[in-house]
Amino acid sequence: MNDMTPTREQRTAALEGLGCKRKRVEDIRFTQGKGNYVDDLKLPGMLHGDFVRSPHPHARVKSINSEEALKVPGVLAVITAETLKTVNLAWMPTLAGDVQMVLADGKVLYQNQEVAFVVATDRYAADDGVAKVVVEYEPLPVIIDPFKAMAPDAPVLREDLAGKTAGAHGPRKHYNHIFEWTVGDKELTDAAFKKADVTIKEMISYHRTHPSPLETCQCVCSFDKIKGELTIWGTFQAPHVIRTVVSLIAKLPEQKIHVISPDIGGGFGNKVGAYPGYICAAVASIVTGKPVKWVEDRIENLTATSFARDYHMTTEIAATKEGRVTGLRVHVLADHGAFDACADPSKWPAGFFNIVTGSYDFPVAHLTVDGVYSNKAPGGVAYRCSFRVTEAAYCIERAMDILAQKLGVDPAELRLKNFVKPEQFPYHSALGWEYDSGDYHTAMRKMMESTNYAALRKEQAEKRAAFKRGETREIMGLGVSFFTEIVGAGPSKNCDILGIAMFDSCEIRMHPTGAGIARMGTKSQGQGHETTWAQIIATEIGIPADNIQVEEGNTDTAPYGLGTYGSRSTPVAGAAIAMAARKIKAKAQMIAAYKLEVHEDDLEWDIDGFRVKGLPEKFMSMKDICWAAYNSVPPGMEPGLEAVSYYDPPNMTYPFGAYLCVMDIDVDTGVYKIRRFYALDDCGTRINPMIIEGQVHGGLTEAFAIAMGQEIRYDEAGNVVTGSFMDFFMPTAVETPHWETDFTVTPSPHHPIGAKGVGESPNVGGVPAFSNAVNDAFSFLGSTHIQMPHDYWRNWKAAKQLGAVA
Ligand code: CDP
Repeated sequence: MNDMTPTREQRTAALEGLGCKRKRVEDIRFTQGKGNYVDDLKLPGMLHGDFVRSPHPHARVKSINSEEALKVPGVLAVITAETLKTVNLAWMPTLAGDVQMVLADGKVLYQNQEVAFVVATDRYAADDGVAKVVVEYEPLPVIIDPFKAMAPDAPVLREDLAGKTAGAHGPRKHYNHIFEWTVGDKELTDAAFKKADVTIKEMISYHRTHPSPLETCQCVCSFDKIKGELTIWGTFQAPHVIRTVVSLIAKLPEQKIHVISPDIGGGFGNKVGAYPGYICAAVASIVTGKPVKWVEDRIENLTATSFARDYHMTTEIAATKEGRVTGLRVHVLADHGAFDACADPSKWPAGFFNIVTGSYDFPVAHLTVDGVYSNKAPGGVAYRCSFRVTEAAYCIERAMDILAQKLGVDPAELRLKNFVKPEQFPYHSALGWEYDSGDYHTAMRKMMESTNYAALRKEQAEKRAAFKRGETREIMGLGVSFFTEIVGAGPSKNCDILGIAMFDSCEIRMHPTGAGIARMGTKSQGQGHETTWAQIIATEIGIPADNIQVEEGNTDTAPYGLGTYGSRSTPVAGAAIAMAARKIKAKAQMIAAYKLEVHEDDLEWDIDGFRVKGLPEKFMSMKDICWAAYNSVPPGMEPGLEAVSYYDPPNMTYPFGAYLCVMDIDVDTGVYKIRRFYALDDCGTRINPMIIEGQVHGGLTEAFAIAMGQEIRYDEAGNVVTGSFMDFFMPTAVETPHWETDFTVTPSPHHPIGAKGVGESPNVGGVPAFSNAVNDAFSFLGSTHIQMPHDYWRNWKAAKQLGAVA
């Protein structure tokens, strides 16, 4: 070896593979304003569409008059449900097995529902046209409170379902009922409650909120009449699914549909489903023969596209007097709005809510979920969450604190006492999941040591005494949260969307010079896939990450995949990437053996190439193997070096974490200060620690927003009162607390590189940490549970109700 020969460390570092804090390659274009978003697309002759929307939350549509609108210069067409009926597209199927109006058909069911689509030569003309469409409405009574949806005299919302006693998920109990979903053992659970020394019961609500990505939902549809082909550029988290859905509902051959997701400015679940805007833009393009662009504004996004949560969870825990949990019973009332358009895998009407036993070893549990219709926007998407997991984590984490309060024990100690133990993995939960791996005690103790938890409790006791003596008006809360996530939808035996199994895919094509391109069925919306996917390949095949170009989002070139949401990308596509790379490596080994004139078994892998065992100087780098793949492969072998993998995971992955929020609340104003927030995450093998930290920061910021004020609120008349960023809390750097991050590593035993997802974890664990901090602070004044969101006003109100403010 001469001085110039790189060391093993240098060779490893040059790859920028697993574990490297590789800088995000996509940021080169994003930080220079060179991203390419849907609204950047300008096609010759492109038209623009805009919606007439209903001001009423529930009304009969008596007439729609487009005469004056069509006189506006530039307005070319006004599309209504009647127009869509001519192509059989007035209604569309939802991912949850329901149907949804594309444009109001006889009535409207929520405020800002789409009523007509005005097509014009520019956006301004379309807006002017919208103002001139005259719609005559006859208002009807509204249902906003889901607890009133199934009252005997409740107004009938879905007249189209008249007489249907069963829906996609079984029998319906009432005309505004969607489904009942039951899991677990009722008898055993009831018996556990009968025997219990201690029980708690609380109705824990997770209010309605919205993913509100900075880039709203949008598309450009361009129909080529000559070729009979439809190209759609759109903000799609799952472009292949959109292609299939468009093919099925528009009856166009799937090969004639090209779906392209360019750069996407955040998704958080909002961009999974199909919206009326996509259908109307496609129909308008087919009718006019011109490309048609539809871009939502902020109010439209917040009030009419998929919301998140609106779960009302009556939660009971049975326990021994020593604090050992013996049973869990939960009933959820789920408000799905006007149409059941939840974006969950088809068989799961309440997503993975049955992870509600959380990190605790409940011997028995029973869960029922009732879904109901209301006069609110449809949706129910996994806003930075894996299909209702954040609701489940909030439910159990609040309930464990309530139990700790009742038992008079420390909430962290109660959790430690009830955790699933390391030796119990793979762990079978009472509600049917198999947790792959975990070490909860280590994570919790690390959190407690790193934050000096015991000292914080001491300080809290002193502050409480000072408050009682009248020396301070501040109360201090410690919000403990320990969550178990379930991500990586999913094994095809459990999960499909409209019958398509939820696998994912990767195709890698290596070029002669030792560079390559890799394409996946996923689609980044800011998660940094271009950076991290190349890192997996770098470590697997010894080619520097910089030499691997990652491409996602074009259905013509990417292999079929189910897209990116619910932290499924790393568990599913990440595995497909490793498996495709291993196929490349296996062929590379045959080529290397031929070139080095040895048997394959005589070769060993050494960072970036193959070496002959016992003869260290006989080495062939992967770069050289790539060249050989194109000029001198063994006789009988096909030239070239490429591979595809479609990966159907054997199980989900179960990341977990221990969070602590330290908060002070001024009882006279309700103003809170988040003094400290510590987040320990375990997502198994870490691909890029810097990106993980970024994911955690982002997820915690959204959790902070949701817990402390972000809400889609309706007044009693059905008006959305938080429909713009003036009212909908969107934290900036000014409000956002400082985040301390930490980690442990418990690899997934079934994932090829041991990785679990991470993107959703901070939201799942963060919301209960904030809410528990507020509730912990107020518990000292005698309260058991205060509903989220905990904005200043509500904090003040709570203090007043508890007698702390005159
Ligand atoms: O599906 P989505 O991309 O939203 O979530 P994810 O699989 O949790 O990945 C989010 C980002 O974090 C991706 O860039 C991953 O590669 C990265 N990540 C990582 O570096 N290590 C992990 N163990 C998990 C995710």
